[in-house]
Amino acid sequence: MTGRLEGKTALITGAARGIGFAFAEAYAREGARVAIADINIERAKKSAAAIGKAAIAIDMDVTKQQSIDAGVAEAIEKMGRIDILINNAALFTAAPIVEITREDYEKVFAVNFTGVVFTLQAVAKHMIARGGGGKIINMASQAGRRGEALVAVYCATKAAIISFNQSAGLDLIKHGINVNAISPGVVDGEHWDGVDAHFAKLENKAPGQKKKEVGLGVPFGRFGTAQDLVGMAIFLATSEADYIVSQCFNVDGGQWMS
Ligand SMILES: NC(=O)c1ccc[n+]([C@@H]2O[C@H](COP(=O)([O-])OP(=O)(O)OC[C@H]3O[C@@H](n4cnc5c(N)ncnc54)[C@H](O)[C@@H]3O)[C@@H](O)[C@H]2O)c1
Repeated sequence: MTGRLEGKTALITGAARGIGFAFAEAYAREGARVAIADINIERAKKSAAAIGKAAIAIDMDVTKQQSIDAGVAEAIEKMGRIDILINNAALFTAAPIVEITREDYEKVFAVNFTGVVFTLQAVAKHMIARGGGGKIINMASQAGRRGEALVAVYCATKAAIISFNQSAGLDLIKHGINVNAISPGVVDGEHWDGVDAHFAKLENKAPGQKKKEVGLGVPFGRFGTAQDLVGMAIFLATSEADYIVSQCFNVDGGQWMS
């Protein structure tokens, strides 16, 4: 059977672990070549090796323009072109409003939002120059659709992505570039282990307690897994999604609806 992404090439930021890694594995299974672009290059190399020949690791810090440009150039040199970009790298942070520090705010915005804008720009320039369009997927979050008392900065970065996704999609579709987003709910993994640790401190909970409570609140009846998101990430990268522009799809077990 031919894969749904046969002959395609993808650059996925923050794919050394978690959801991005699951996307990289799934894209490779569907016949694509993937560049795992991450600030954690050692982990990115291990993840690429675990996938095999279809994957390469790229040392990229999405907060630095030079690093974005060099990473995109390396991906093009090694894979020939970039057909698909997934803007997935992100940091989580939590604090009451009066305790937010400027340093933490700037660090999280630099990765989660500014990184998305300028990685998208660098890849879009390449896609426009070579012609033939492309697919860009931005990782948003249910956190971007509503406020959360202790998660103001992270929520704001994801709300900014949802807005930017709309504008970028409208501007780039004339070049045949589809820009869409995925909004997960809660997805188990190292990211959520970190979230749980934040809440253990902020809400004086036992380790693991927040995760348990949140999981029980998902209408589907459990926490999400990275695998739950893979189908949408593949679909949005195929020609079946050609007529979809600027959308942000909830893949969250019903969490946003509840
Ligand atoms: N896990 C969830 O519950 C959840 C829910 C909603 C949305 N999301 C979003 O999905 C995406 C993936 O989440 P995850 O759970 O896999 O996160 P994760 O923390 O497991 O992985 C993030 C990756 O980004 C990399 N990274 C961090 N800073 C970077 C930088 N400056 N440059 C390049 N790479 C950098 C990290 O090294 C890591 O490999 C994120 O955008 C996240 O906000 C996750």
